[in-house]
Amino acid sequence: MDSSKVGFRTRIGGLLAAAGSAVGLGNIWRFPSETGEHGGAAFMIIYILFMLILGVPVMITELAIGRHGGKNVSHSFATMSGRKAWGWMGVVPVVGSIILLSYYSVVAGWTLEYLVEALTNQFAHTAADAYATAFNTFAADSISPIVCLTAMLLLTAAIVAFGVQRGIERAATIMMPVLFVCLLILVVCAVLLPGATAGLTFFLHPDFSCVTSGTILSAMGQAFFSLSLGVFVICTYGCYFRRDADLVKESLSVATIDTVVALMAGLIIFPTVFSIDGLRPDAGPGLVFITLPNVFQQVFALSPVVAYFFSLLFYFLLVVAALTSMISTLEAAAAIFIRKYKLRRPLVCLAIALICATLGALCSLSFGRWSGVLIGGMSIFDLFDFIVAKLIMPLSAFITCLFAGWVVDKKVLREEITCHGALRQRLYPIYRVIIRYVAPIGIALIFINELGLF
Ligand code: PHE
Repeated sequence: MDSSKVGFRTRIGGLLAAAGSAVGLGNIWRFPSETGEHGGAAFMIIYILFMLILGVPVMITELAIGRHGGKNVSHSFATMSGRKAWGWMGVVPVVGSIILLSYYSVVAGWTLEYLVEALTNQFAHTAADAYATAFNTFAADSISPIVCLTAMLLLTAAIVAFGVQRGIERAATIMMPVLFVCLLILVVCAVLLPGATAGLTFFLHPDFSCVTSGTILSAMGQAFFSLSLGVFVICTYGCYFRRDADLVKESLSVATIDTVVALMAGLIIFPTVFSIDGLRPDAGPGLVFITLPNVFQQVFALSPVVAYFFSLLFYFLLVVAALTSMISTLEAAAAIFIRKYKLRRPLVCLAIALICATLGALCSLSFGRWSGVLIGGMSIFDLFDFIVAKLIMPLSAFITCLFAGWVVDKKVLREEITCHGALRQRLYPIYRVIIRYVAPIGIALIFINELGLF
């Protein structure tokens, strides 16, 4: 079969691949630290509202655009609008995904290092006050973090090189259930800890007095990032979705899985952190790499075997979650070259992995040797995050909404979402209002505010 037309073999395979993209470090590393910094449950409620009002409609739109063309993002935008110039949108998944993958792989590399440390039981030999130094020394090193990120990228490339069905779909079908079982075991252990209630209260009891405009911005940013929207990763997977898939249902399912995983990560992290007197959950990104390994040892001090397995399972979970997201990001960049320019898949995957490893090395060095290199007041790592999460994601989500709401023929979009009338889609009128008015205005306001323009 023409490789530019190959898609997911089964409905569930497609769903798990999209959910695998959404579930990632964003859920287990970024969500708890953002929640911790922004006062717990209040942040979570605002985040869930953003998911429903903006995230799900944008996801439906990305999937619909992708599936309409069925080959690659560039072809989909051009076919759906009937205008060739829209094919330029194909630049977004290439540039956006490569920048994202470069800095994401740095954190993914840290998770790999921590998995190895957990496996070799090194946390047991670290003094309670030495975890921060251990992490900072490792992250600042000029070699080991770069080796780790390159290993994660090569592993990703090896999986994606096997293709949509045998690589991506198969990996998601194996890894997602494994991930869920790990989460479940960790949640049960965490909520049974003595002193867990304080953590649960913090996580589940909303205190709206902590809400500021910063909270609202972070919640929206987190919703887009967590659903993998705005760099056309989901649009690329849309190209592979079956013609009879209900895109509304799929989007709701992905958003539900993504939110449940984020909640479960919270249920693991907060009770564990609070079960040690004096520890607070607002440690920021260091939460997972500094606070937690320490906490695991202290909480299970009486039973080193449990401490060992708890740490091992936790970092294994992080590595798996990071991998499924990296797979989707690499595919989004690769698909343009493979399905539009007909280049060989393994070659394209390897080339992108090597480019990302080089850029990733620059990001990694910004934690050590190059920490003094600031561009616009930001380190290279922060700059990459800023370009993707604060510029490309909101901007391309904004353009996607305008495209679907105002450029595409009304009938074409409706037919795609209702599968040519086979599905009723009672919520369609609400979706249309969101895509035409609510989402573009909301995203624009937040975007302008974020850049400090008013
Ligand atoms: N959604 C992923 C996460 O939560 C991150 C991601 C964003 C992946 C955009 C691909 C594209 O970690």
